[in-house]
Amino acid sequence: MARQFGTVGVVGLGTMGAGIVEVFARNGIDVVAAEVDGAALEHGRATLTASVDRAVARGKLSAEDRDALLSRVTFAVGLSSFGAAELVIEAVPEHLDLKQKIFKALDESCPPDTILATNTSSLSVTEIAVATGRPNQVVGMHFFNPAPVMKLVEVVRTVITADEVVADIEALCTRLGKVDVTISDRAGFIANGLLFGYLNHAASRYEAGAASREDIDAALRLGCGLPMGPLALMDLIGLDTTYEILDTMYRRGGRDRRHAPVPLLKQMVTAGLLGRKTGRGFYTYEKPGSPVLVDDELTPRPAGEAPVPSGIAKVGVVGSGTMATGIIEVFVRSGYEVTSVSRGAERSAAVCEALKASMTKAVVRGKLTEQERDAALARVTWSTTLEHLSDVDLAVEAVVEELSVKKALFATLDEICKPGVLLATSTSSLPVIEVAMAAGRPADVLGLHFFNPAPIMGLVEVVRTIRTSSEAVARARTLLADLGKTAVVCADRAGFVVNNLLFPYLNDAVKMLEANYAGVDDIDAAMKVGCGYPMGPFELLDVVGLDVALAIQRELYLELREPGFAPAPMLEHLVTAGYLGRKVGRGFRTYR
Ligand SMILES: NC(=O)c1ccc[n+]([C@@H]2O[C@H](COP(=O)([O-])OP(=O)(O)OC[C@H]3O[C@@H](n4cnc5c(N)ncnc54)[C@H](O)[C@@H]3O)[C@@H](O)[C@H]2O)c1
Repeated sequence: MARQFGTVGVVGLGTMGAGIVEVFARNGIDVVAAEVDGAALEHGRATLTASVDRAVARGKLSAEDRDALLSRVTFAVGLSSFGAAELVIEAVPEHLDLKQKIFKALDESCPPDTILATNTSSLSVTEIAVATGRPNQVVGMHFFNPAPVMKLVEVVRTVITADEVVADIEALCTRLGKVDVTISDRAGFIANGLLFGYLNHAASRYEAGAASREDIDAALRLGCGLPMGPLALMDLIGLDTTYEILDTMYRRGGRDRRHAPVPLLKQMVTAGLLGRKTGRGFYTYEKPGSPVLVDDELTPRPAGEAPVPSGIAKVGVVGSGTMATGIIEVFVRSGYEVTSVSRGAERSAAVCEALKASMTKAVVRGKLTEQERDAALARVTWSTTLEHLSDVDLAVEAVVEELSVKKALFATLDEICKPGVLLATSTSSLPVIEVAMAAGRPADVLGLHFFNPAPIMGLVEVVRTIRTSSEAVARARTLLADLGKTAVVCADRAGFVVNNLLFPYLNDAVKMLEANYAGVDDIDAAMKVGCGYPMGPFELLDVVGLDVALAIQRELYLELREPGFAPAPMLEHLVTAGYLGRKVGRGFRTYR
């Protein structure tokens, strides 16, 4: 029978510790909560009380349950009050020497059968364990932030952890209503191993001025459905903790430069901008500890003058695939006239059918009336020759992802289109400047990177090359606002904002699988349950297509030349084997 933990101890009542105390006390377990001094203890008590009060205000907890919960917690300064604790979990700052010191002291003061757990995100649990005389009773219990909400706990077993200790901790996680994955001791475990490279990369993109903080965060929320953008997430985690985790991962994880904390993080930590806990990080908050954002000098101001008119009424869309069809739908549903150009009448008919089917689905879902659908369909002129684009105000290209094809097309568009027309490419990975130069009128060329399915996804990346005019960008912004899309303006770098951050993370997941650290299901679960992602990396790779993912990763590697961005060999092999994902019935998983 698994051990019934009646009393547990928690050391450190900061961002994580206060949340962990709440998790135990909510589940009827007595908690001894310890801090380093009286002031920190009061701060920890206030954090816990504020959190449970918020739960009462939201109707998630009754006032009686709150009182019962708080009555289960005793507060103490120092480490000498754990006489009754069967488990003590440590959540102090991410420094090895500090944690080792605390474990040594706990080992000396706790009863011999007490299990000692660390909530470290990146340090070696083994190195912490050997600071005690009971290394077989030491485990990692890695909770996610905020601990009362996030369901995942990574249980980290070292080579010396006893089997029954792991079994007891796994049973405890189930009792706490958590989902656990049990893994071995490796820097960052599963979730942080995949998350922190991505966070650091986002900080470096921000530091390089690739897009504004609001745009970077909106891009990841709207483009990938993530619950938070990376900069807002670092503010939640704490920039000091983020820095320490990255630094440890860099040193422990083979010195992958992608984990070397970007200089901006160090500067922010030095300046005391630690994120929500100090009221200021990438964003500014109402007060320290508050989740409420307030405006600061970086907040975009509403433009003083009227927006630049787009001057667009008639749009040409070149291509006959999924994206072209979706883009046509976006425009006609917003009242624009569209000339659709594809290579042959058969292809035109297929696009017309797909468009009709998609809009009929919208009718069934009550998003559109039949009259609106028919009127939208009537706005399309079907053509098989580019000559018909001589009267459009905007031409959007969504043909095959091959630079030579796109360049030839832009050269032709230059011959056909009127002067001053906006020329846009929907490429996801190719350099926009290449097609801009092929068109010979680079000031009017930009990227309009729609996401699939275009009628549903709210995000469009507006890619500005070094030759795109400000006027063209302003016109595109007005147009997208009229289409009801969120425009994120970004620089012409491989993958723009979303794919530049997303695909290296997916590639890292493949490398983790390849290294046999964890399986497809555990990795997917860790990201969904630990980070609130809508899909795990392997689910997403199978949907996107492994060939597409590989092509994008290759582009990124080509541009960034960083060894850590090299495509995972396993991804290459799966593509060579024809396992391309859902579209062929087999990728990382097999589909019927
Ligand atoms: N922040 C996150 O999102 C997150 C998520 C999972 C795990 N973690 C891990 O949890 C641990 C704590 O991180 P945090 O973000 O809560 O840090 P934090 O800075 O918010 O809190 C640390 C707390 O430890 C206290 N402390 C310091 N020395 C102490 C001592 N000798 N005895 C008792 N208490 C002491 C501090 O006063 C502070 O309240 C780290 O190992 C971190 O990697 C953090």
